[in-house]
Amino acid sequence: MGERAMDKESWGRSRASLRITATGRKLLWASYMCSIVLVLQYLAQPASADPVLASSVGFCKPVRLEATAEEKNRSVQCCLPAPRRAIKRFKLPHVHHLRVRRPAHELANDVEYVNKYNLAYERMNALPADDPRSFLRQWHTHCSFCKEAYLQRRLNTSTTGYPLQLHYSWTFLPWHRMLIYFHEKILGSLINDPDFTLPFWNWDNQLDATAGQIPQIFLPYQQSNRWPRQRGRHGRYGKIRNTFLYEGKRRNPNHMPPKVLPLTFDASLEKERANWTHDQIRHANLGQVYEMVYNKVSAREYLGGPYDTNSNFTEAVNVTVGESGGSESLHNTAHEWVGMLNNTAYPDNEDMGVFTYAGRDPIFYSHHANVDRLWNVWKALPDKITPDGHRVRKDYDDYDFLETEFTFYDENADMVIVKVKDTLESNKLGYTYQPMVEADSLWINHKPNGTKPSYKRSDVRVSTSNAIGRHPTSFKLRRHAPTAADLRGTQAQNVQQLSEGVVFEHVRVPELMYVRFDVFLDSPSATAETDEDESAYVGTFTHLPSGVTTVTDLGQKMVHVEDDDMYRTLNIRFSTSLALKRLGVTDWNTDVTVTVVPRFRPHGYGWNIKALTFSCLRQEFT
Ligand code: C2O
Repeated sequence: MGERAMDKESWGRSRASLRITATGRKLLWASYMCSIVLVLQYLAQPASADPVLASSVGFCKPVRLEATAEEKNRSVQCCLPAPRRAIKRFKLPHVHHLRVRRPAHELANDVEYVNKYNLAYERMNALPADDPRSFLRQWHTHCSFCKEAYLQRRLNTSTTGYPLQLHYSWTFLPWHRMLIYFHEKILGSLINDPDFTLPFWNWDNQLDATAGQIPQIFLPYQQSNRWPRQRGRHGRYGKIRNTFLYEGKRRNPNHMPPKVLPLTFDASLEKERANWTHDQIRHANLGQVYEMVYNKVSAREYLGGPYDTNSNFTEAVNVTVGESGGSESLHNTAHEWVGMLNNTAYPDNEDMGVFTYAGRDPIFYSHHANVDRLWNVWKALPDKITPDGHRVRKDYDDYDFLETEFTFYDENADMVIVKVKDTLESNKLGYTYQPMVEADSLWINHKPNGTKPSYKRSDVRVSTSNAIGRHPTSFKLRRHAPTAADLRGTQAQNVQQLSEGVVFEHVRVPELMYVRFDVFLDSPSATAETDEDESAYVGTFTHLPSGVTTVTDLGQKMVHVEDDDMYRTLNIRFSTSLALKRLGVTDWNTDVTVTVVPRFRPHGYGWNIKALTFSCLRQEFT
């Protein structure tokens, strides 16, 4: 009791106490820590880093759920059945024509498609549990790979002993691409339609007001007025019921149509923002996609950091660091918004909002289809951001990336091994997306509000303790011009092509905590109410609880946060080139203020944690 009271107090005090602790010694210590980390990271790049085999063969443990007062050791079994036949190598299909994935909001009136879609899922759901193509096992595939059920392997199949994790790194996009690729193939084969495609949930589309709503196809009934009258099992002229899709799906009842997914969704501000007009949401959404997709030039910024046989994002000792790209961070918001948030009736939050359960909602696969589509769109975007202005956006070309292998079950229930290098072009996999040129161009050409914050740099109180607390905190960022040394390890052709960013290194994030914070440059007065669509805004970080719960009463009993393996250590990167340009910071050597605005869920899990600590904050070029 005493401890919690103290924690709460120090939250409240953090701002004031920062002023007294701003001593030169601390400053020195902070920059010393930064360089130590750099040296360690350099030394920690041994020649032994190899591509990973992400396989569901071999050791598998149940996925841990949060302890309750009554029960300490709780878990859910997500392990997949062992392959019954010899494992195959994936071969790229012979592509005669491309299958076209279409936007879910445009499919509401396509009776033939909706019926096919429903039938395919009904059949998938009816498959027995030992069939890896069953809906249960499709969910388990995501659950086990996102929650470290398996051990990481080398390509020769020996294990590294590290838990296997497909999020927080460059594997995020290719792995999810192949997850839904096989999911779609299985659905198609169940209805004998090899051309079947998943619909994509086109939430970035601000042109059509229905695009960002939960599409009709995922609701219990098709509600469109234009829906043709049908004879059906629900009466002579009843609406068609999406039989399998809705039953048992837990979603936030406040987020049903006509509500539109706000891509800057903040659960703690939900009441305040309930009156936002559609125009406000639309503008904020465009700004968010612009920052999280358009503003990312390098593979590192968009796809995330490396994942190889040295990567272990979960252990406290000699930890290596996960790093999500803009794609992943942006995508987390939809998970959060569709899910139930704090619903005491479902203590495990069995919904889109936690990775463990997200794959149980069919909207998950269509959400990821849009993430996958945006990956294609991103690669074709012009640069116009680096000083050079002509950098080509492309995937990593590292050996460790290209040779990384995943295993999935295909439409014949055979286990196949897929190499990342075969996943990078969707055309080669035989599918494409209906072009959404007009809607895409809205966020590509977005202009944030031009207001520039005015303040005197010398007046700003910057924090020297490397902690992100409950209140907005400002830090000082030292800057320098890019040099040849900064080019190393990047895909830029010259220093003029480097994309500038700010990185929070080694942020310790409780695994079960929903975390979101926004970052502004030279905006020390930014608060939770500050509009994200400002010149000074550089983006958001979101972390989904990859286990469970944000339930208030359980939250009081939480004890496990101090266990080392309950934290993830992440690097969190924001791209700054465009914002600096907007703010008129043209000199490479001008230091800037970085202000972090935390948007944690009130009463959510981890609310009692004093602060998220990190090892250093620095400028980095990619
Ligand atoms: Cu594996 Cu949308 O998450």
